[in-house]
Amino acid sequence: MKNKLGIVGGGQLGRMLTFEAKKLGFYVAVLDPTPKSPAGQVADEQIVAGFKDEKAIKKLAKQSDFLTFEIELAGADILEEISEQGVMVNPSARSLNIIKDKLVQKQFLRKHHIPSADFAEVSYKGDLLEIAEDYGFPLVLKARFDAYDGRGNVLIKTKKDIDYGLQKLIGRKLYVEKFVPFKKELAVMVARNTKGQIEVYPVVETVHENNICHTVFAPARVNSYTAKKAEKLAKDVMTHLKGAGVFGIEMFLTRDNRVLINEIAPRVHNSGHYSLEACVTNQFEQHIRAVTGLPLGNTDLIVPAAVMINVLGQRTGAVEVYGMEKALAIPGVSVHIYGKKDTKIERKMGHITAIGKSIDMAWKKARSARRYISI
Ligand SMILES: Nc1ncnc2c1ncn2[C@@H]1O[C@H](COP(=O)(O)OP(=O)(O)O)[C@@H](O)[C@H]1O
Ligand SMILES: [Mg+2]
Repeated sequence: MKNKLGIVGGGQLGRMLTFEAKKLGFYVAVLDPTPKSPAGQVADEQIVAGFKDEKAIKKLAKQSDFLTFEIELAGADILEEISEQGVMVNPSARSLNIIKDKLVQKQFLRKHHIPSADFAEVSYKGDLLEIAEDYGFPLVLKARFDAYDGRGNVLIKTKKDIDYGLQKLIGRKLYVEKFVPFKKELAVMVARNTKGQIEVYPVVETVHENNICHTVFAPARVNSYTAKKAEKLAKDVMTHLKGAGVFGIEMFLTRDNRVLINEIAPRVHNSGHYSLEACVTNQFEQHIRAVTGLPLGNTDLIVPAAVMINVLGQRTGAVEVYGMEKALAIPGVSVHIYGKKDTKIERKMGHITAIGKSIDMAWKKARSARRYISI
């Protein structure tokens, strides 16, 4: 059996992918600029190089049967070149090309009649003024490329914010969206393997603070009609997108109960971490199965409820973890620490998942555990 897996990106997602790939018997090499990266610590091998270092990516590809990534930075052109040389690269250059430019992503959704917020391209200040007249305020000005944790977005509440917004995102290609007054943010993880099999995870509820995902409630506290709608939308996205891998589909539930797609992430996702403890097949194992052509696993919940809380850095300096004893003494609590050397304010350092008989019970446990942990 072909069993050499290369992963571009050695952060926490790469680390959790590596754990699962090792479980399935793969030889894993990761590429990351930080020596002893979170994934590098658990992989068979790490190539220390930047994500855009073509020579290093080619080296990794040459020694791999399958190549995947945990970050969206890798140049899609080089991926095309590599796949022509017989390495299975997933997500594919085709799906990455659709996803990595948020404007193209929105056009793709529109083309396939998948609902999302109204949007328009912005090249000049004049465009924005014109769109504002048409759409009204508030608007969300967004960078088309390389945006994460809200860092490429600016909320435009009135005409006065336009100059500030354009200044903040200066030098970047932009588009603008209508602000969606949402009731909840939802997310659905969905997998498609190289043979076209699609499996959808249950819809979850995500709560963001400062644009960073903080808490995930699984399953989402929505009625079954909304849940079915969200899960169907995620499946529709994958049917049209085609590429293999696990994808995170972020959604809005509007005040009038419409479900709109916010964005598609071409990788395992923070909103799917709960699946490690709560689903038959977790998202990381599922991704490995998907990109290596193995059958996909069952995505059902194996517990009534789970709540995941991110452990974000609260200071700057070397990592020291406290509170594990107290946190792990709570029944149903799991703590994941990512092995990063330094902590920084708001940096993703780990996460906690609590399972329980109900969302409320799981949430209580997760919150108590979170209070004990400091890093
Ligand atoms: N059109 C919108 N209307 C309302 N809120 C939005 C809109 N777009 C983004 N947001 C808020 O900002 C967060 C981050 O935006 P997103 O486009 O997902 O950026 P990122 O790529 O940084 O995750 C979303 O999770 C949501 O809370
Ligand atoms: Mg997002």
